[in-house]
Amino acid sequence: MKPGSDLKVEARKHFQYLHLIHEDVREELYLLGFSEQPARICDFGCGNGLTTYSLALEFEQAECTGIDRFDGVDAPRLEHLLQFQESLTKHCAEEAASRKPFPEELCSLVQKARLPRFHRGDFIRGENLPEGVDLAYCKRIFANVFEGKQAGDPSGGEGLHLAVDRIAASIRPQGTLCSVEFEGFDLAKYLAKRNLRVLKRATLQRRDVRSRGRTTVLSRYALVLCQKL
Ligand SMILES: C[S@@+](CC[C@H](N)C(=O)[O-])C[C@H]1O[C@@H](n2cnc3c(N)ncnc32)[C@H](O)[C@@H]1O
Repeated sequence: MKPGSDLKVEARKHFQYLHLIHEDVREELYLLGFSEQPARICDFGCGNGLTTYSLALEFEQAECTGIDRFDGVDAPRLEHLLQFQESLTKHCAEEAASRKPFPEELCSLVQKARLPRFHRGDFIRGENLPEGVDLAYCKRIFANVFEGKQAGDPSGGEGLHLAVDRIAASIRPQGTLCSVEFEGFDLAKYLAKRNLRVLKRATLQRRDVRSRGRTTVLSRYALVLCQKL
């Protein structure tokens, strides 16, 4: 967020394409044949938090958490996510009877006290990670770890084994992990060695969402759904 910018305007901008991200999440879950009703969901490496919100919208009974270390140069700031949430809460309550500043479904998350929670955590160092998770959503994080985007972190196979181990430890037995990565990055062999049984794999092709909505460029993704043994 730029210094001096209006929080409400920024929050509106932040959420303006939530419906498109929600569309993406639904497509991913559909292609993976995921039909459970998880009670506890964690979005690991949640970034701007829009996938976390989408999961909260999708699973009406779930408690959703987004964790990220929020410290990279381009990484979103946790404070901003929390401020947007505050702005959302305030304005949904204030203007509920008149003009809706945010999509109705977002306001319904506020009214039902079902907003996702965000906090700092690190899935390589194993810091501040939740326990007993039913569904671990891991979107575009493993390739980052493999490539060693964060200086000083273990990367390559070592980094991946660590990340997969830490995330798997957060999942309850028989719970699931859903991974969405750019195609060409083969995660399955790392999962299999970590007590995670691959249930389903799928691929998809789509135009990603950026600051101006859907781009014209097609991205290809590889999806994996696995179960913790
Ligand atoms: C490419 S972004 C993906 C964000 C989001 N999942 C999405 O698909 O829009 C990768 C995210 O992983 C986070 N990340 C990378 N390594 C991490 C770690 N060890 N612990 C927690 N978050 C991490 C980064 O801060 C970044 O927000």
